[in-house]
Amino acid sequence: MRELEAILLVGGQGTRLRPLTIGTPKPLLPTAGVPFLAHQLARARSFGVRRVVFATSYRAEMFSDAFGDGSAFGLSLEYMTEDTPLGTGGAIRNAAEALTCGPDAPVLVLNGDILSGHDIGDQVARHVAREAALTLHLTEVEDPSRFGCVPTDETDRVTAFLEKTPNPVTNRINAGCYVFTRSVIDTIPQGEVVSVERETFPGLIEAGALVLGYPDASYWLDVGTPAAFVKGSCDLVLGRLPSPALPGPTGDLLALPGAVVSPEAKVSGGSAIGARAVVEAGAKVTGSVLGDDCVIESGATVADSVVGAGARVASGAVLRDAVIGDGAVVGPRNELVEGARVWPGVTLPECAIRFSGDV
Ligand code: GDD
Ligand code: MG
Repeated sequence: MRELEAILLVGGQGTRLRPLTIGTPKPLLPTAGVPFLAHQLARARSFGVRRVVFATSYRAEMFSDAFGDGSAFGLSLEYMTEDTPLGTGGAIRNAAEALTCGPDAPVLVLNGDILSGHDIGDQVARHVAREAALTLHLTEVEDPSRFGCVPTDETDRVTAFLEKTPNPVTNRINAGCYVFTRSVIDTIPQGEVVSVERETFPGLIEAGALVLGYPDASYWLDVGTPAAFVKGSCDLVLGRLPSPALPGPTGDLLALPGAVVSPEAKVSGGSAIGARAVVEAGAKVTGSVLGDDCVIESGATVADSVVGAGARVASGAVLRDAVIGDGAVVGPRNELVEGARVWPGVTLPECAIRFSGDV
């Protein structure tokens, strides 16, 4: 396949993932041992993408620090930064200034928080063959009201785009991977706040442009919530979505260099153990993401949770579906469940929070 250019949308604040995103943008959170975007970039490369323009805003400099000129990934990377966030459409228009392709070329646009197993090459080929203005990857979810709802006709032509509607007409949603014909991007007003979901897509459909759907049933996940983020990391470690960016042998767990997991600890469910992290004897870790240099003490239980870099979970503490910020300390015998979040650097004294009442 010919070489493709892509725009990667990474300017969002990742509010739903706080406190993890206070210091690190969502697309850079360590996921199965590497920054989340490494998985997306490696997959894009495997489908022929060679040049990627990052559309950044929030903590822009951290992206170039992490990925540089891209040569380590076999890619050429450019960075375009919005002084104030321009929305998804404004960001695409701004980033397009750094594209080198001509007006008729297909351009891939990716939301920066998606894990997807779909065949990007086939999506591009379909777009080109049908001479579409825009081709949207579509997937089916149980609750379409949290996404862009996208009805199509029998020829896969998109008939409406309904962003986060309370009354979705189909379970088929916008999966956050678009192929634009370059000249269509140039019709988005420059330097203005524009939402592709609320303005550009409905506008194109109304104007009669050919907007195609690319329906697909392969692995798909938006990692925008803590529960989804943990699931994404574990799925990658478990091999449910193959990724060329995985940093080492995987299976039930992935341990980064310098991690010390006691042979008497139980670690499973695709957990990722950060560099130099320690999991002591008798600790139990399932389906979780442990940051670099954190410590899970003997007899602690960590399930479906994220433990930030340098954090400590003391003996007898139980975490279930919890997020512990960088450097926080969960004192002995605390019980944090159901979406509990501890802010970075906070220390919870022994037994400060319990749910069972049985101390
Ligand atoms: N550069 C830049 N500037 N990027 C932005 C901005 C901005 O102002 N606003 C959002 N983004 C980026 C985010 O970083 C993310 O990668 C992407 O655009 C989508 O934003 P989200 O905040 O994650 O949106 P969402 O998940 O609620 O909804 C979007 O994704 C769904 C699929 O996961 C929409 O595109 C929905 O229609 C779609 O179904
Ligand atoms: Mg999202």
